[in-house]
Amino acid sequence: ASQKVTMSNLESDKFINYQRIEDNLKIVRDRCVFFILLIKSLKFRLRLSLDQSGAIYFYTSRSMRLYNALIVPLLFSSLGHPLTLAEKVVYGHLDDAKNQDIQRGTSYLKLRPDRVACQDATAQASHIRYMALLQFMSAGLPSVAVPTTVHCDHLIEAQKGGVADLARANDINKEVYNFLSTCSQKYNIGFWKPGSGIIHQIILENYAFPGGMMIGTDSHTPNAGGLGMVAVGVGGADAVDVMADIPWELKCPKVIGIKLTGKLSGWASPKDVILKVAGILTVKGGTGAIVEYFGPGVDSISCTGMATICNMGAEIGATTSLFPYNNRMADYLRATKRENIAAYADAFKHNLTPDAGAKYDQVIEIDLNTLEPYVNGPFTPDLATPLSQFKDAVIKNGWPKEMKVGLIGSCTNSSYEDMSRSASLAQQALDAGVPAKAMFTITPGSEQIRATIERDGQAAVFDKIGGVVLANACGPCIGQWDRQDVKKGERNSILISYNRNFTGRNDANPATHAFVTSPELVTAMVFAGDLTFNPMTDTLQGSNGPFKFQPPNGAELPPRGFDAGVDTYQAPPADRSKVVVDVAPTSNRLQLLTPFNKYDAKNYKDIDVLIKVKGKCTTDHISMAGPWLKFRGHLDNISNNMLIGAVNIANDQANSIYNKLTKQFEAVPKTARDYKAAGKPWVVIGDENYGEGSSREHAALEVRHLGGVAVIVKSFARIHETNLKKQGMLPLTFADPKDYDKINPEDIVSIQGLESFAPGVPLNLHVAKPDGKSVDIKLNHTFNEGQIGWFKAGSALNLMAAAAK
Ligand code: F3S
Repeated sequence: ASQKVTMSNLESDKFINYQRIEDNLKIVRDRCVFFILLIKSLKFRLRLSLDQSGAIYFYTSRSMRLYNALIVPLLFSSLGHPLTLAEKVVYGHLDDAKNQDIQRGTSYLKLRPDRVACQDATAQASHIRYMALLQFMSAGLPSVAVPTTVHCDHLIEAQKGGVADLARANDINKEVYNFLSTCSQKYNIGFWKPGSGIIHQIILENYAFPGGMMIGTDSHTPNAGGLGMVAVGVGGADAVDVMADIPWELKCPKVIGIKLTGKLSGWASPKDVILKVAGILTVKGGTGAIVEYFGPGVDSISCTGMATICNMGAEIGATTSLFPYNNRMADYLRATKRENIAAYADAFKHNLTPDAGAKYDQVIEIDLNTLEPYVNGPFTPDLATPLSQFKDAVIKNGWPKEMKVGLIGSCTNSSYEDMSRSASLAQQALDAGVPAKAMFTITPGSEQIRATIERDGQAAVFDKIGGVVLANACGPCIGQWDRQDVKKGERNSILISYNRNFTGRNDANPATHAFVTSPELVTAMVFAGDLTFNPMTDTLQGSNGPFKFQPPNGAELPPRGFDAGVDTYQAPPADRSKVVVDVAPTSNRLQLLTPFNKYDAKNYKDIDVLIKVKGKCTTDHISMAGPWLKFRGHLDNISNNMLIGAVNIANDQANSIYNKLTKQFEAVPKTARDYKAAGKPWVVIGDENYGEGSSREHAALEVRHLGGVAVIVKSFARIHETNLKKQGMLPLTFADPKDYDKINPEDIVSIQGLESFAPGVPLNLHVAKPDGKSVDIKLNHTFNEGQIGWFKAGSALNLMAAAAK
């Protein structure tokens, strides 16, 4: 397995390390054999039995009870069983395979990812907040420890079209781009300029490889699972750890298997696979798990289609999603000039596919032969409706029937195949003389895609139907959309081929009903301008009579090869010693920050409840995107959006809470600032799956910055929970979710037990009521020893900085 194959054509000195996977897997598989031999040599006679509660335990010859907590996990998770692909890749990247405790869903793994990817909205903050690259210097490191790239994609607002919008963004964001560019040069980071494309598409085209492991500061990093890579979205602080050569910690994931049978064809697209899965598993069904696809149906999906499916796995809360290596991946690697990787992966296929009989924690089967197109939404990506039932759902629920805008592309769905299939439908309508009724925008995922569809004619077809090709960037997907066709508050519907449709995400209008579907369906529906239209069965009026769409078709890969377009990549210079990192001290967009304070027991006694949040509270509710993105490098300024989307249970309103100091209802950030100025720490009470959505680190940073000490909820989304821990916050959960009802915003609370804070030991919440009564509530936490160290130091970075001294 030890060949010298470069990870990327852009990095001639970084090689794929398949040998490490081979070696690690041998160690972890042998550990099982070793354990059994050990038991035998001790002459223990093990007998399986059940205790009164039904739990399995073992008897030894000395009648000593060895509980399942010790033996069963060791036996069953010490890898005597056939391995899933997720296990192979994850365990193949263990830092210390010999001594690592491996229990799916329980233990924390220390891992060595192959690379890091940062987008501009989180990269700037993590660099500024932690001065990570300055730490490299003080540690004597001339460069990041693993190959790293920075991508400028989130800050480009869609207004007029690609060229004009990019020029405007270059002007407005000059300061941030200069900072990122000089930082990248200084510390040996590949820099993708504005206009190069969306992080995940660039990664797929240039860096992802089967069996690799990557972390990225964006929740849709799992897109690279389409090329067989374990790619996980993390907060900026995790990325800093890995760049500084600190092993990355991840709770050992469970593995959900999705067995695909049949063949994808006709109107059904890869997007429909994940839209259906989202409907089955819901927005939290994948929490703590890697979703692994397998079965005979896999080969009927293109590599970019598999990436679409993995990308949107973020919407079910999955750690990541993954496909086994196959010919479709090899085809894509060859089309993107990486024949050498395809050949290497072919030789190494035994570790890039699951073992026969691999054990999954849960298996869902989907028959691609009968898969229907789906439309998911509004307001949540897991409200899945098959196309055949969508008309009825629109009418029954009173969703605005008129389709105002159709938006295709984004990191989720902008492959050559997506563009070709969508253009095939647009061409049919053009030929039949059917005009587009709704507005239509196209977001290419990369400069390479833009240039190729321009050369091959798809862009011209979109142009003929009035479509606007936007910049190669996130644009309306992240609220960077200067939308003019409806007023704020006006109810309306849009159809998107993106991945996420939380309230206000695309246009900051809470009355916009955004529905997620395939680019094919978006395109066809643009010609009806009506959500009740079913392009598979209904007809439209063309210039020559009634017209009915034929199923879409289009090439998976460009027959003439990709056109790379304009060169938008900046490689780090060979001599980096003279580069100066560009930060203006007077900036209102970039701000150097002082470290957070260390643990102080008094901050957890007799403190206020800032807000008791009712219902869904995503990272968009905690730290809204859109116009706020420009302040991402300035924590104090962006904190003015803290929790402004969360609904206060006391009055059912967003951004209106009772300020105990001014004795009136006021905005959440204002009230938090008043409490902070008065030296009054506070907590947030929340509902289920708190912090779902993106990996947005600001959602944790802002709460800490404005004086929060704990977030107490029924349950957390994984990334947000970890992000809170990294910032020195206490993410805690009610041992009994019903205890959520026992706290009111006017109560005064104390978090007890922190003097003996230890893994697995619950804490107590003492709640003092205004009438003098009190209740005590048991709170659970998932801190391990290392994370308790972060908490005591005030943040993970404080601990790292102390260790580096
Ligand atoms: Fe960008 Fe939207 Fe993807 S914000 S990274 S295009 S999910």
